Amino acid sequence: MFQKDLLQGKRILITGGGTGLGKATAQRFLELGAEVYICGRRQEILAAAEQELRERTGGKIHSRPCDVRDAAAVEEMIEIVWAEGPLDVLMNNAAGNFLARTEELSLGAFQSVIGIVLMGTLHTTMGCGRRWLAAGRGGVVLNVTTTYTTTGSAYVVPSAVAKAGMQALTRSLAVEWGDRGIRMNAIAPGPIPTEGAFSRLLPRPELEEAAKKRNPLGRFGTMEEFANLAAFLVSDGAGYVNGEVVTMDGGEWLQGAGEFTALGRELTEKEWEMMRPKKIVPKA
Ligand code: COA
Repeated sequence: MFQKDLLQGKRILITGGGTGLGKATAQRFLELGAEVYICGRRQEILAAAEQELRERTGGKIHSRPCDVRDAAAVEEMIEIVWAEGPLDVLMNNAAGNFLARTEELSLGAFQSVIGIVLMGTLHTTMGCGRRWLAAGRGGVVLNVTTTYTTTGSAYVVPSAVAKAGMQALTRSLAVEWGDRGIRMNAIAPGPIPTEGAFSRLLPRPELEEAAKKRNPLGRFGTMEEFANLAAFLVSDGAGYVNGEVVTMDGGEWLQGAGEFTALGRELTEKEWEMMRPKKIVPKA
């Protein structure tokens, strides 16, 4: 769906790029001509992903272990990347999440998720943003948020809190830094099957069917669909899109939010018949 050279010459860092959505997006960016850096916590997983993506795409890819919670480690990584040339795009994809009853969570559990999602995004964004501003050059940040930032969500409270902060950061800096050529956007994906997310958020396979029923399209999203949206948003073609959170969930959150949706789905044919105004019911 894109020109092969859409991202030619772009240097892109993807946090959490060794698995799931991050890895799939790295592949798409490489296929479209970008030079990609991936980081994550686990050296072996990153190295394997780097090799696999290089063989699959023939693109320029580098990997570096880095826990985005650690501000000093992020700064060191960005310094090393910049020594090879400035980045054009930062994608904050690294995340942590699990289902839990909030009253049972330790402070460490909150710190872990908020540390990865919110503080991690802040560390990388400040590292790249300050360098872009100092050099008087533009840049693009793409954050991966969720569909439950405005509503909140029970049982994933650390994630809801952290992603809401991430979204506020996206919109705030889109305005504050926009006049200096830095665009900030986010994608709010609905359920997309990945090992990391589904093992933590859908403990029983039967729940997958219930999750699909909650979606107007009756299915989950795919990593390819996510990666294509990401490619568009970081490309120059999306140059006027700034401060936007693009929801990509098949309409799932709207279905959950609509007051009469669930009710309407429960009604029988007979009940719909009863609800119709008699005078406009077509004659059989
Ligand atoms: N329920 C409740 N608490 C949990 C938990 C769960 N399922 N999983 C971890 N925790 C708590 C731990 O008990 C620990 O608390 P403590 O400090 O009081 O002992 C704290 O969270 C940190 O856990 P730890 O195992 O040290 O993990 P970590 O900080 O290295 O890992 C996580 C981060 C917890 C987010 C882990 O799930 C992870 O690595 N996730 C990455 C991938 C991911 O979540 N993908 C989904 C994205 S949608």
